[in-house]
Amino acid sequence: MALVSSSHQISAESVASAVAAAVDAFARATTLDELKKEKTTHLGERSELSLLNATLRDVSADRKAEAGKLMGEARGAVQPAYQKAEALLEAAEEAESLQAEALDMTAIGARRHQGSRHPLSVLMEDMADVFVSMGWEIAEGPELEHEWFNFDALNFDADHPARAMQDTFFVEPVERHIVLRTHTSPVQIRSLLERELPVYVVAPGRVYRTDELDATHTPVFHQIEGIAIDKNLTMAHLRGTLEHLARAMFGDEAKIRLRPNYFPFTEPSAELDIWHPTFSGGARWIEWGGCGMVNPNVLRAAGIDPEEYQGFAFGMGIERTLMFRNNVQDMRDMVEGDVRFSGQFGMVV
Ligand code: DAH
Repeated sequence: MALVSSSHQISAESVASAVAAAVDAFARATTLDELKKEKTTHLGERSELSLLNATLRDVSADRKAEAGKLMGEARGAVQPAYQKAEALLEAAEEAESLQAEALDMTAIGARRHQGSRHPLSVLMEDMADVFVSMGWEIAEGPELEHEWFNFDALNFDADHPARAMQDTFFVEPVERHIVLRTHTSPVQIRSLLERELPVYVVAPGRVYRTDELDATHTPVFHQIEGIAIDKNLTMAHLRGTLEHLARAMFGDEAKIRLRPNYFPFTEPSAELDIWHPTFSGGARWIEWGGCGMVNPNVLRAAGIDPEEYQGFAFGMGIERTLMFRNNVQDMRDMVEGDVRFSGQFGMVV
């Protein structure tokens, strides 16, 4: 009879203890890796069960059937325990990785803040574009302007109240006669001096007056100026041009009217009013700007013979236009630079 080490003898106890150890280890494994190691330990070549199994051939013939049965039952108990543990751990690991990799397709992504152009810039460009599409040119002038262009050449008397300190920012030393331009009208003179006749230009730009900032005033604001000098231009051309601008900016239902007024640089001069059915506060007339036939003295200041050439001019405030076009109540919103204000006018590039 072959020698069998006493520690590896097939008996109900030894097999049951090896089976219990294996089943217990498989059940305790918390990861598939751990389970694999336990499999090597409890089912591998050097495991208790394998060693017991190896003794089968040495078991005496009368005990062989019993020992074989014990080993068969052991396999029948341990294999399913392993498979069960494996299935559980696989499911758990898959659930975990699904959760880790989960993407919420409905989640709101991190947003980048987009800037948007200031509505005043957009509006000023839109107004200028109306004229460019009629073949007019865009002219520019300096914001630091000589008093001669800002006042004298525009036929303002030396003692005109607009020159007084309370309206005009004078730049020191005052003897140099440099001001922050109080309107875009000096670009009329510059355009007439620089360009060949006929002249059809618009001049959008920034202007300055010594006003306090409040809901309807700002010391820095914007205007658009227009001047047309040609042969045989009449007030009918002025009216038609302004009507076209009004409809282009506000829609076909817009109407304009001219009321007599006084400006030193136009004669006759008029106040320009605009009407639209959807203005906030109802269909009503709103003061929009000034206009008139260019005063012969202005033409003479630019070296033009008023007998040969005539024309018209107009000017309006962009801030005011934005206020009643887009129902902005407070001008301070336009100067604060809050992107939430600009953003309401849409992304315009
Ligand atoms: N420059 C004037 C102002 O700032 C507006 C104006 C009135 C411009 C009549 C014109 C005009 O060209 O003809 O109040």
